[in-house]
Amino acid sequence: MELPFAESWKIKMVEPITKSTREQREKWIKDAGYNVFCLKADQVYIDCLTDSGTGAMSDRQWSALMMGDESYAGARSFFELKDAIEKITGFKYVIPTHQGRAAENVLFSALVHEGDYVPGNSHFDTTKGHIEFRKAHAIDCTIDEAKDTQKELPFKGNVDPVKLEKVLQEHGDKVPFIIVTITNNTAGGQPVSMANLKEVRKIADKYGKRIVLDSARFAENAYFIKEREEGYSNKSIKEIAKEMFDLADGMTMSAKKDGLVNMGGFIATRWEDWYEAAKAFVIPFEGYLTYGGMNGRDMAALAVGLDENTEFDNLDTRIHQLKLLASLLDEYGIPYQRPIGGHAVFIDALKVLPQIPKEEFPAQTLTIELYKEAGVRGCEIGYILADRDPVTRENRFTGNDFVRLCIPRRVYTDNHIRVIAAALKNVYDRRDEIKHGVKIEWEAELMRHFTVKLKPIE
Ligand code: F0G
Repeated sequence: MELPFAESWKIKMVEPITKSTREQREKWIKDAGYNVFCLKADQVYIDCLTDSGTGAMSDRQWSALMMGDESYAGARSFFELKDAIEKITGFKYVIPTHQGRAAENVLFSALVHEGDYVPGNSHFDTTKGHIEFRKAHAIDCTIDEAKDTQKELPFKGNVDPVKLEKVLQEHGDKVPFIIVTITNNTAGGQPVSMANLKEVRKIADKYGKRIVLDSARFAENAYFIKEREEGYSNKSIKEIAKEMFDLADGMTMSAKKDGLVNMGGFIATRWEDWYEAAKAFVIPFEGYLTYGGMNGRDMAALAVGLDENTEFDNLDTRIHQLKLLASLLDEYGIPYQRPIGGHAVFIDALKVLPQIPKEEFPAQTLTIELYKEAGVRGCEIGYILADRDPVTRENRFTGNDFVRLCIPRRVYTDNHIRVIAAALKNVYDRRDEIKHGVKIEWEAELMRHFTVKLKPIE
């Protein structure tokens, strides 16, 4: 008999989680303004809000913490981190920051100016926010097929080379860099192929532009290249990652994802001029050059995390859970962005709740229903997160409206995955009874989804 799949780790420490009643959850979500970000974590049974900073560190990482060097300047832990990053990426200039958006803030302060255009593939909301905050334009050049949730493509996160070239032809002198997000979170945790990265490189070279990789989930991207792209099945994750970074000029990194730490980030680049320009901003915004907002011990744990998560077995264990979730949703007929991405399942709320008008935010409505059903906290990646157009102030209803259910790294077991799927099935089976969505009572001007206050429409 063939042995079944099993995790590439065993558990050394556990954290209790508690169930609640539907009655309790109905009160809690009301008190939270129907915004799951405003719930207390103790009011959540299985937390799929994000895979960011929610993973479990290994014994090697915890022991690295104890060896952290907390010197203000020149800490040993910084050099350990710098060496680990250079080994994986080939980038020799490294600036630590406290998380990914801080890396964006520091690098974009140096590079992005009013009236600029930054083409990319579905910029993450903080990336878009940091571009628009500087009165520049984030131009989405993702392939059109990414919007069709039922279309199975191996690399649905790809950049459309025609769209990219058009931006460069029209605004070439106002493009500070191209940003490619690996994996493409907003499009559903979808990977970008090596062939596509090569194509983007060719176009960038033609117009004399540099490429930044938003690398939050670069290791998962490398895993999918190994699994799905011809010619890579025999290469190691580290070899594939190096090949991806060889095609780029620099990276912003939220280490809270594929760095396997709870807080941290960095900028890395091969270019001294970018490093020099960013240096001027990291000191006032984040901290001195060799810690940039991170503790020495956190840099030490990150150096180990980057090494661990560029090993096949660790990634294979993780992606197995996503595949299990996808197979259960297939069995129940629940529509999601196909194929499954690297860190989350993205439920297609427009298909689940077609009776709810866009103006009543179907994905947010489904997120609330799922929480009420089983205490499973997902997150809307849809029309609330899309914010309003900065010029017209109209809601942006053009993209997908997803409920994202993230799976934290090395935290939940396959049994938790089965609970998530069953909770979704229960909501799906009674979807016709959901007649109305929600309306906005209060919202912030930028990144409104974190703090928005909502009310159910009676
Ligand atoms: N880029 C991508 C692709 C991200 O997914 C995130 C964060 C960031 C940048 C910003 O990094 O949070 O460390 O400041 N994504 C989290 C998420 C918040 O839930 O997807 P950060």
